[in-house]
Amino acid sequence: MGLQGQRIVVIGGTSGIGLAVAQAAAREGAEAVIASRRQESVDAALRRLPRGAEGHVLDATDEPAVRAFFERTGGFDHLVYTAGESLLLESLAESDLARARRFLDTRLWGAYTAVKYGAPWIREGGSVVLTTGTAGRRPLPGTTVAASLCGAMESLTRALALELAPIRVNVVSPGLVRTELWRDLPEEEREGLFESAVASLPVGRVGTPEDVAEAYLYLMRGGYSTGSVVVVDGGGLLV
Ligand SMILES: NC(=O)c1ccc[n+]([C@@H]2O[C@H](COP(=O)([O-])OP(=O)(O)OC[C@H]3O[C@@H](n4cnc5c(N)ncnc54)[C@H](OP(=O)(O)O)[C@@H]3O)[C@@H](O)[C@H]2O)c1
Repeated sequence: MGLQGQRIVVIGGTSGIGLAVAQAAAREGAEAVIASRRQESVDAALRRLPRGAEGHVLDATDEPAVRAFFERTGGFDHLVYTAGESLLLESLAESDLARARRFLDTRLWGAYTAVKYGAPWIREGGSVVLTTGTAGRRPLPGTTVAASLCGAMESLTRALALELAPIRVNVVSPGLVRTELWRDLPEEEREGLFESAVASLPVGRVGTPEDVAEAYLYLMRGGYSTGSVVVVDGGGLLV
């Protein structure tokens, strides 16, 4: 059930959680194929992966590019989707509907597109692991769009698990994780967010990409999980 010799495609695999998944899978002997929008992030990520890893520039919101990417990549075993941009945090009253709609493009429609064109290339025994977040189950004021997206990702996962069977489809739901995703918040606000998490979380610390990567690896290896949501949140849903 190990990942030795398996080929794993990680869209959004050049930073944070996706890069940690690619690194952990490579440590188990898998061949990692990572993709994201910017050449500089692809180059930087390849320097942090073993020789033999492949990197591609790909915008997951560009449907023809996604189709062409999978045609070029050919057969593989597991598809991991972690592409995402900084969270859209604004109240309903202040929301801009065009911006709110665009927010779903990468995380929801990008994932949908990747699975549509990637699934036909997944080999027997393979799987898809998508990404959601705990905002769907425990929203805060100002997270209407993010919470809606997270709920949609969980439902999409369950529907795909039936439609694509026997390909297994699962989703990881991270809590707060220290990654580049938070770079757009002013430093003081960002550090305040992390400090308040340290104070309130049962585990007493903020998550690392490596903590969360373990869940993706478990779901890829575990042949009996499909339609599952695995929460990795340091106990955040409890407090
Ligand atoms: N960090 C957290 O606290 C947290 C919590 C819950 C859920 N999540 C979710 O987990 C996922 C991974 O987040 P992260 O924290 O690892 O963020 P990250 O470090 O910012 O990584 C995001 C990755 O997505 C790529 N990307 C962005 N837009 C893309 C597009 N249109 N097409 C292809 N690649 C794209 C980025 O590279 P380029 O810039 O080169 O495209 C980057 O490699 C996201 O969906 C995020 O919302 C994160």
